[in-house]
Amino acid sequence: MRKILIVLALLVITAPSAMAAVGGGEIILKNKGGDVIFSHERHVVGLEQTCQACHPKLFTNIKQHKTVTMKDMKAGASCGACHNGTKAFEVKDNCAKCHIK
Ligand code: HEC
Ligand code: HEC
Ligand code: HEC
Repeated sequence: MRKILIVLALLVITAPSAMAAVGGGEIILKNKGGDVIFSHERHVVGLEQTCQACHPKLFTNIKQHKTVTMKDMKAGASCGACHNGTKAFEVKDNCAKCHIK
């Protein structure tokens, strides 16, 4: 019994780190406006948003990334599908929220 409790305790301690990367983890999108770090965790945990909100319609994977411009995004492409001031903060402003450097 005691052994089982110890094993259970270890599972509880190690589980969160084993699941640390939600979905595709953190994605770095390099571009002329400064690197953008896309966080899967921030887009799923605590939001009523599932993987299907983005996959496979908007995004597939890094290799097949379709590069867009900010103009495209303002017209609703890529991140702009949600970052339009209605579903999430808009791309016409808030540059520093996405472009970290
Ligand atoms: C808000 C949009 C969004 C949501 C929600 C989302 N993803 Fe992603 N996902 C992305 C973006 C952006 C990329 C990078 C690919 C690209 O830019 O085209 C990506 C890439 C991935 C990749 C590929 C990573 C690589 O190395 O190429 C996997 C796997 C993935 N996502 C899984 C998931 C899973 C599982 C969920 C749900 C838990 C999820 N995603 C939810 C936007 C999203
Ligand atoms: C919601 C996040 C987000 C916001 C807000 C945002 N950007 Fe971007 N931006 C991106 C992403 C992601 C890319 C890369 C697109 C790609 O690779 O497909 C990008 C690309 C760019 C580019 C290179 C492409 C182009 O259009 O020439 C520039 C320059 C840029 N952003 C400037 C800005 C400025 C200036 C602002 C504020 C007015 C801004 N961005 C706001 C996410 C954002
Ligand atoms: C399916 C809708 C959707 C798409 C597509 C989407 N986002 Fe978001 N994003 C959200 C929502 C909802 C929030 C949380 C509400 C808010 O901050 O306005 C959010 C929040 C964020 C935040 C703030 C996270 C924090 O730390 O609080 C950043 C940065 C961000 N998104 C960047 C991006 C980038 C970059 C892309 C494109 C690669 C993108 N998002 C695509 C819905 C989306």
